[in-house]
Amino acid sequence: MILNNKIAIVTGATGGLGSAISLALISKGAIVYAIGRNAAALERLRSNAGERVKPVQLDLTKEQKVTEWVSNTFTENHYPDVLINNAGVGTFSKIDETPSSKWHEMIDTNLNGMYYITSQVATMMKKKTTGSHIINIGSILGKTGRTEGAAYCTTKFGVSGFSEALYIELRHFNIKVTCVNPGSIETGFFKSSGIESHSNMLHPPDLADIILHVLQTPDNMLINELTIRPLNPKAPVR
Ligand SMILES: NC(=O)c1ccc[n+]([C@@H]2O[C@H](COP(=O)([O-])OP(=O)(O)OC[C@H]3O[C@@H](n4cnc5c(N)ncnc54)[C@H](OP(=O)(O)O)[C@@H]3O)[C@@H](O)[C@H]2O)c1
Repeated sequence: MILNNKIAIVTGATGGLGSAISLALISKGAIVYAIGRNAAALERLRSNAGERVKPVQLDLTKEQKVTEWVSNTFTENHYPDVLINNAGVGTFSKIDETPSSKWHEMIDTNLNGMYYITSQVATMMKKKTTGSHIINIGSILGKTGRTEGAAYCTTKFGVSGFSEALYIELRHFNIKVTCVNPGSIETGFFKSSGIESHSNMLHPPDLADIILHVLQTPDNMLINELTIRPLNPKAPVR
């Protein structure tokens, strides 16, 4: 896909990875609907990136609000070409010490929120004559378990299954679906999740470059899954 003047939606655009992806898309001439709940952070992104960023203050866990926003924003001559499902939350704790509110928050954001927006956007993408691309940000914790990560792993294994089924369902409509599974990334995620960061994490702009590459592959080439890790998650002791 050639990204110039394409219409993209990036969820979680106020966070570390989402804002890097938004800036990368803007650098290629795309228009980015940047979704998050934090109005001040959305405004910062718009003032950094300019008028091609369209800030959207939206809580993805609110199905009705998501449906209204999609149908009020997009019309037949203005359908989204790219959807980056990046918004996500994670907290880590023993299963018998995980409050049900945290379990529900992760399921509601990482799975239900992704479903609400994708199901609406897919209807529009199916009507387009040109190609479209949905990229879902999973995690390496969608491929392997981690102690104290039952809820988060459940959601990220879910993102992987969702992506795998969708690419098979949507490929005949010229819609590509890719699941990107990163290892640890240097973002605010570590402050909110309660797990320890380390000094050799991936950097959001580097991942954004990979995502741009995936979006710009030839029309008949689909990279449906990608796992990206730090080579050395912690500096080795020599
Ligand atoms: N950091 C890592 O090591 C790592 C590793 C693998 C995968 N991931 C995944 O990468 C993605 C991006 O995370 P990040 O590392 O960039 O973390 P982050 O900086 O904490 O960003 C998370 C983003 O999700 C948004 N969000 C959360 N709940 C939302 C809701 N209900 N409605 C709308 N937006 C919501 C936040 O925006 P608001 O607060 O403004 O709503 C924020 O923009 C997530 O899916 C995460 O699971 C992260």
